Amino acid sequence: MTDTLRQSGFTTTADGAWWRDAAVYQIYPRSFADSNGDGLGDLPGITSRVPYLKELGVDAVWLSPFYPSALADGGYDVDDYRDVDPRLGTLDDFDRMIEALDAAGLRCIVDIVPNHSSDRHVWFREALASPRGSAARDRYIFRDGLGDDGELPPADWVSTFGGPAWTPVGDGQWYHHYFALEQPDLNWDNREVRDDFLETLRFWSDRGVAGFRIDVAHGLAKDLPDILPSQAELDALPIDGSHPMWDRDEVHEIYAEWRELFNSYSPARTAVAEAWVEADRRGRYASAEGLGQAFNFDLLESDFDAAQFRSVIESNLALSEKSGSSSTWVFSNHDVVRHPTRYGLPPVDGRQVRQGAEWLLSRGREPVVDVDLGLRRARAATMLELALPGSAYLYQGEELGLPEVADIPDVDRQDPTFFRHQGTEIGRDGCRVPLPWTSAGPSFGFGTAAPHLPQPAEFGRLSVEAESGDSDSTLTMYRRALEIRSRLREGGLEWMETGNPQVLAFRRPNGWVSVTNFGDELYELPDGELLLSSSPVVGGFLPGAATAWLQG
Ligand code: GLC
Repeated sequence: MTDTLRQSGFTTTADGAWWRDAAVYQIYPRSFADSNGDGLGDLPGITSRVPYLKELGVDAVWLSPFYPSALADGGYDVDDYRDVDPRLGTLDDFDRMIEALDAAGLRCIVDIVPNHSSDRHVWFREALASPRGSAARDRYIFRDGLGDDGELPPADWVSTFGGPAWTPVGDGQWYHHYFALEQPDLNWDNREVRDDFLETLRFWSDRGVAGFRIDVAHGLAKDLPDILPSQAELDALPIDGSHPMWDRDEVHEIYAEWRELFNSYSPARTAVAEAWVEADRRGRYASAEGLGQAFNFDLLESDFDAAQFRSVIESNLALSEKSGSSSTWVFSNHDVVRHPTRYGLPPVDGRQVRQGAEWLLSRGREPVVDVDLGLRRARAATMLELALPGSAYLYQGEELGLPEVADIPDVDRQDPTFFRHQGTEIGRDGCRVPLPWTSAGPSFGFGTAAPHLPQPAEFGRLSVEAESGDSDSTLTMYRRALEIRSRLREGGLEWMETGNPQVLAFRRPNGWVSVTNFGDELYELPDGELLLSSSPVVGGFLPGAATAWLQG
């Protein structure tokens, strides 16, 4: 299919920079919609819900991995980068999904996982069957073990999901995996690895995807010395471009090559880096010579606090101007505690975010969540986010105000974090529970079978069906907010004096004013027509934990 056809439903392709102020909706495909009753969401399920996405008012979707995978890490362990997991559909289903999205004017971004393949990838199987020093092993990071027969790991490194980061293969050699042992790290010094990913990017670009989300983008380039440092030594090294593992300067050579490929398409393909790096080093990932955009998780990592929000917004707007990119704003994704729950947790040392992280990591000490406060704050934060210049990345289910699901039985849990910590860390399954589409039914309309992660009873009340007809629902708020945003989103922002340190207000060039009250006292709104508010405005007063938009 040609690009012209692919673009048929688009409205803002002229400069190819649609992504600068897009609202992008992240779909975790296995938990979105199940069309064939096997308990797993799939691509035809997504296709069937395109009208919902259109009505919601987002500009694009980003699909977490849908590739063949043993699901050792929710699909981020990829067996084959150029195919669809048969449980999720076929390449034809993918084409049909793109066609349906195109017809609705929605673009599609897919997830690329270049730091590691799965251990079932044909290359890794070949590496295991090949001797040390072979070309097959050079595609990964193999090292001789220590001890007389290599029976000891090359270093004491710990993987991010817990447990060792080096695993023996039985002949004295060990391979490196920063994540689960089913996710061997690829060797990006190997030309074949680089060429193969270029082919993958071409493969999906040719199939009509508009861009890519790059997983662990700051990890690809590595330079491991012959004598490996200990984990403690590694942790003590500065991450300033010279660290053996993270955010090395050479990683940008890889992205410069990718950029050339992206720009060979019309419109140019876009990319967004998942790069957990220092704010001032994010710009290189986001530059026009690089991936084009980088996630900024600073708001996600902030408490519901006016001063923190203001400083994050100011610094990120300045950084994006410097890099020539646009800011990205995120509150929830498939890796973190959903924001209504985070904001409803009692603070630890005055910080909700830290509490959220501890909650994710803890077991048996789940604190009481103030559900009402958490949701009010989350709605206020989202409206503030949607009023900001730049692009907003929304995670499926946040438009319903879904909470994190805490009480998933151990037998149903899937996240390697849970297993690798012998159950002491509860992991990320609680934000990946399948979406409720209807108020009743065996899986609240997700499919006809039991869903692959159990849904709590309250999901009926939070379903698309229940919220669609309710003018006060979170879904209605998202729909209205996205519609207003799509009309008014041009230009930068100007801060307004509020006379109250708990209240942030800013104006966009066309008179769109956003006011957020982070405190608990009523705040008198400035003059202007009320467009929307996250909680009811009574007599011109904005309650605490609320945002209002005005046309000034
Ligand atoms: C990224 C993904 C996360 C995954 C990890 C390893 O951080 O967002 O879900 O577990 O990479 O691929």
